[in-house]
Amino acid sequence: MIASFDKLDKMLRSFRPLHDCSLLIASLSRKGLSKKASRPPKEGREMIGDKSPPPRVMTDTSILTLTSVPEAIKVARDFARCWLECKGVDHAAVQVGLLVINELVTNAHKHGSEPGDVISVRLYMSDVGPVVEVRDGSDAEPRALPLTLDSFSGRGLAIVSELAKAWGFRRLASGGKAVYAVLREATA
Ligand SMILES: Nc1ncnc2c1ncn2[C@@H]1O[C@H](COP(=O)(O)OP(=O)(O)OP(=O)(O)O)[C@@H](O)[C@H]1O
Ligand SMILES: [Mg+2]
Repeated sequence: MIASFDKLDKMLRSFRPLHDCSLLIASLSRKGLSKKASRPPKEGREMIGDKSPPPRVMTDTSILTLTSVPEAIKVARDFARCWLECKGVDHAAVQVGLLVINELVTNAHKHGSEPGDVISVRLYMSDVGPVVEVRDGSDAEPRALPLTLDSFSGRGLAIVSELAKAWGFRRLASGGKAVYAVLREATA
């Protein structure tokens, strides 16, 4: 575990000169390392994208804090790739997970923040699989739109809904929201 985080930390430090992104890996909860599952703290009204129950946190949380710039989307994918591989998620499932993460971070950048605002990516293992949570400062709600053949956009959350085990969002007491998705550990 320590070796994995050293690897992650080394990789993230290499991004610092390339992107205007502030990076932070934090171990949020020592208690979370115990085997016992705990609910994530409730912050405001909970809304579930697909009506599934919110996942229970089973491990500590790895956090990447980013400035909302287009380059942040790739940085988030690289961070998540490393984390998912460290957790033993199979190769194909990592690729699928990265698509989901790409959509959520793109949305946080495009719809949930102004250029230069802070967005963050949190990753933790839950009782139902790996979870990615993307936080932004906007109170606007993410909504999966009906699919149409003649529009160029509006498909991201529909894709998330197909590829993730579950997704949803909750409002944060500090303002803004966290959009989360439960990822698959294997594609078979
Ligand atoms: N983080 C967010 N903050 C605020 N609104 C959001 C957020 N994510 C999604 N939305 C809202 O939900 C809608 C649907 O999101 P979705 O990702 O499906 O489509 P899109 O981002 O508009 O287009 P595409 O993802 O296909 O490029 C968005 O148009 C936006 O109104
Ligand atoms: Mg989108």
